[in-house]
Parts: sequence; C-alpha cells; structure tokens
Amino acid sequence: MTSELRTPNDHAHEESTIDDPVAFVGSVNARLLAGPQSASGSEAFRQHEARLGLLNLDDSSPHTLRALIGAAGLVGRGGGEFPLAKKLDAAINAGATPLVVVNASEGEPASKKDATLLQLRPHLVLDGAEVVAASVGSSDVTIYVHRDRPDLVGPISRAIRERHLEGTSAVTFRIIEGPNRYVSGEASAVVSLLERGVALPRRKSVPLAVAGVAGQPTIVSNTETYAHVALIARFGSKWFRETGSVDTPGSTLLTIVGSVPTPGEVLELLRPVTLGTILARVSEKSRRPQAVLLGGYAGVWLDGASASAALVDRHWLRQVGAPLGCGIVGVLGDGLCGLAETARLLGWMAEESSGQCGPCVSGLPAMAELVFELADGRACARDVVALRRLAIDVRGRGACGHPTGAANLLESALDVFAPEIAKHLRGRACEAHGVGLPLTHKPLGMS
Ligand SMILES: Cc1cc2nc3c(=O)[nH]c(=O)nc-3n(C[C@H](O)[C@H](O)[C@H](O)COP(=O)(O)O)c2cc1C
Ligand code: SF4
Repeated sequence: MTSELRTPNDHAHEESTIDDPVAFVGSVNARLLAGPQSASGSEAFRQHEARLGLLNLDDSSPHTLRALIGAAGLVGRGGGEFPLAKKLDAAINAGATPLVVVNASEGEPASKKDATLLQLRPHLVLDGAEVVAASVGSSDVTIYVHRDRPDLVGPISRAIRERHLEGTSAVTFRIIEGPNRYVSGEASAVVSLLERGVALPRRKSVPLAVAGVAGQPTIVSNTETYAHVALIARFGSKWFRETGSVDTPGSTLLTIVGSVPTPGEVLELLRPVTLGTILARVSEKSRRPQAVLLGGYAGVWLDGASASAALVDRHWLRQVGAPLGCGIVGVLGDGLCGLAETARLLGWMAEESSGQCGPCVSGLPAMAELVFELADGRACARDVVALRRLAIDVRGRGACGHPTGAANLLESALDVFAPEIAKHLRGRACEAHGVGLPLTHKPLGMS
C-alpha cells in the first residue's frame, strides 16, 4: 500500500498488540474503535450486533442503569469532564421526563473523534443514547449535528433506518441541524436551537439537566460519552474500569493534528502513558515536538519537554492545569512559530463568538490583534502586559466558557513561548508563520 492510499485511521494498527495502551480503528486491543477497518465504512446494524451482542434493556430498570453508569465513573468526553451519572440524577430528580440530546456538533475543526464514531460506529452512539434514554424514562433522542455535514447525517440516518427496519429501537430518533459555528456546539446553544431555532449560548442559572429546553430537564452529552455507555451497558462497570485510571476510568479518544505525518488521526488510549509515547506511535519524529496544544483550541500550550513527559490521564492533566478537554493533541513542529499559530487561533475564536457579550466582542479581537503584532515583531513589552491584563479581564466572564477558553490559550502561549516573545520584542518579525492546525474560517484581518 502506498502512503497516498492510506487513510489516517489505517495508520499503524497492524503494530498494535492486545496489551498495547494505544489502539487504532480495527486494532485487536481497541474498545470504542474495535471492529472493521475504516476502509469498510459504516458498520451495519447486523454486523454491530453480531460483533458486540444484543443490547437487551428489557430487564434493566432505569435505576439499575443509572447505578451502572455511576459505578463505571464515566465523565463526559465533550470537554468539561462532568460525571454523566450526576447529570442523569439531576435530570431524574427534576420531576419531568428528561430530553436526551447527543451533541454531535464537534465544532473544533481539529477534532475528528466524534465524526469517526458517527461515520464508522453509528450504532455504538445510538445504543448509548438508547441506554441513557432508558435510564431516565425517556423515549425520544435528538441528535444535534452541524449543517452541511452530509458525511455525518448520511451514516446516522442510515443507521436509524436500519434500526427501524429491524424493529429493535425502543426510542424515536430525530436529527436536528444547527449552524456550522464553533459556539453553536456549546450545550446552552444546543438547547436554544431546540427551543427557539437560534443556536446562541446563554447564561445558565440552573443546570440544563434540571431545566433545559422550555424548562424541561435536558441531558446534552457528547457523542463519545454515549458510545462508552453502549459498551458499559453490555460489558459492565468493572470491565470499563479495566482501562483508564482509578481517577478517570475508561478509554479515551484522541485526535492528533498539526506537524504529524497523518493529521486528523484518531486513536484510542486505553491506559495512561506519556504523550511522548503516544506521539512516537504516530511518528518517531513527533516524539519531541517544539510544543503541543493540548485539549483543543480552548486548551493550553505545553513546551515540548513538558508535553513529552505529560501523563495522558484526564485527572493527572487537570491537576497540572492542562485538561485533556475534547482530546485534541496539536503538535507544533520545529521551525514553526507558536505565537503566529496562537494569533491565528485567537483570530478564529474571535470570529466564532456569538457576539453577545463584551469579553468576546472587544476582548478576543484585541487579544488576536496584539498577538499577531507580537509575532510580526511590531509589539513592545507594554503590549505583553496588556495581553496578560486582557486574559485576566475576560476569564470567567460572558455567558459561556468561550472567553475563558481564549484566556487559557493566550496565557499558556505567553508562558511557553516566552523566549520567542523576547526575540520578537527586539523587533524581529516571525519567519515561520502558519502551521497546520486546521481552521474552518479565515480569521479576522489576518494572513
Ligand atoms: C464554546 C464551546 C463550544 C463547545 N462545543 C462542543 C462541541 O462541539 N461538542 C461537544 O460535545 N461539546 C461542546 N462543548 C461542551 C458542551 O457545552 C457540553 O459541555 C458537552 O456537550 C457535554 O457533554 P459531556 O458531558 O458528554 O462532555 C462546547 C463548549 C463550549 C464552551
Ligand atoms: S461569552 Fe462569547 S461566545 Fe459565549 S455567549 Fe457570550 S459572546 Fe457568545
């Protein structure tokens, strides 16, 4: 096979063994990614059931299912790492039948893990949603995707049709499409779209699980979170806890992007290893990157040495202030400028805001512009102080977590790229603009 013919997810899995902590699509050691290779496309319902066995919920009470999910210790994989069982309990205690929503929007352009599941293992996601619905006594599931994603809507619709034809579904599925914007995947924006057709985040005085769409308890969870539930319901909480760590059980999906041979590769991490070990599996050259952006575009930069040594375990990473978020690992290779990259990302974040709150309307474009000037050798030491101030000013403000995400990105860039900043302040423009972290929209006034 030539390298041109290889799809990212067909990379290297032939090297995986049953004890390997890293799995690829179709690897012998994989859990979520187990099954046919990606070239086989979407796994059909009968193949899925033949491989994993029937999902039989007839004998399970809602309470038993919630207890099972609680015993598994599953935390959400959409970024916030909130325990799913707590969300379900809050919804059930709210006193009305909860709505169940699969957040399949995956608005970060670099993230491919949810799309991988929806395209290759749609029945895993639908099974998980059925289990969650059964655990809260609901019979409807909404799958929320971005518009203009026929590559996702196609496999999901086919999978729903298959289940309908097989007569196996106890719930009614519907697909709802929202605007193809980053913040429209934020949970309150999802609720706002379902409620009034406009995907705008809003301040939450009570959790959405208690009062979401039109005041009804609404469970909005990430695609990968549901896929884990499908396996927990079949194989149990003890089996789930065999992977991950005591503090954050279960495997986790990562998307590796940036300066790597196959950007957009999705892999499954079965137990904590260092990021250097994972990157070495992707390519030997990536083992020691210049820096890594961990957790997504609202994540934090780590310098190469700290990144290589970092233990990829959600709990461990949170403790050191670098949450794994939605599992993006953005690799910055040698000869590229982290400041120029940060300016690009901040410009994109400014453009992607919903434009409702001051920190996004004035703070984010100002950050992007100043970092761009810094990378361009046009800024002075006072501007660095102003950037620190801006990060403090926007953190925790606004109706959603978007400004805080931008502050994380900016503050970590100012720390990690301090030596580059010193050089740029002496009037030297960056000679290495642009990297490979993908953006869907052209940032405001840049490049
Ligand atoms: C700006 C912004 C964008 C977000 N985009 C997504 C997204 O595309 N997909 C997603 O699952 N969660 C996204 N989230 C997180 C959701 O608000 C929510 O926490 C998540 O869907 C809950 O799922 P989980 O508990 O399974 O992690 C976003 C959050 C913010 C602040
Ligand atoms: S904080 Fe920003 S993205 Fe969030 S609602 Fe306000 S303007 Fe929109």
